[in-house]
Amino acid sequence: MQSSDLALKLVKEKYQGGNQKRLNHILGVAKMASYLAKLYGVDINKALTAAYMHDYCKYDDFSDADKILTKEEYAECKEYPFLFHAYLSAYKYKELIGSDLDIFNAIYNHVFGRCGMSLLEAIIMVSDFTEENREYDSCIECRKLLLETKDLNLGVYKSLELTIAHLKKENLSIHPRQLEVFNEYKRKVNL
Ligand SMILES: [Fe+2]
Repeated sequence: MQSSDLALKLVKEKYQGGNQKRLNHILGVAKMASYLAKLYGVDINKALTAAYMHDYCKYDDFSDADKILTKEEYAECKEYPFLFHAYLSAYKYKELIGSDLDIFNAIYNHVFGRCGMSLLEAIIMVSDFTEENREYDSCIECRKLLLETKDLNLGVYKSLELTIAHLKKENLSIHPRQLEVFNEYKRKVNL
């Protein structure tokens, strides 16, 4: 069995019937990720595995997270709680499926990427923001740009630009790493 088959089985067991909306989102991420993986010559099985697992812990109880995460990770997640599900989903991949570091990193960093991230990591991050079921204006705008230009770097840049603008508007805190990634991709797309 390929790792993506196992990941799909696990995620269906977790969400099918209970949270169809989340499952549809995950399947949408997998569809976009496999499209981008083909375009950029990235291993499709890896892309699908990361896509299926990226939100595996989205609705988990995080009260025991300190038993799984390192002290530093736990402290970071306490400050930026939206990171809990990404870090825990990555650890779940390791526990239930395999030890591929690129897949682990793609799940771990899917919220806003990291500086020097791999193509797989960028693909999962962008796919999460632009998959076909996303209906926010910013997601629609980014999806349109990505599908028109087929430019992954531009997709990463745009998704961060729109997310950061939203966070600023809502007076929400911006993770310093998010800004660093944004600046890196701003340079990459020459803006
Ligand atoms: Fe997601």
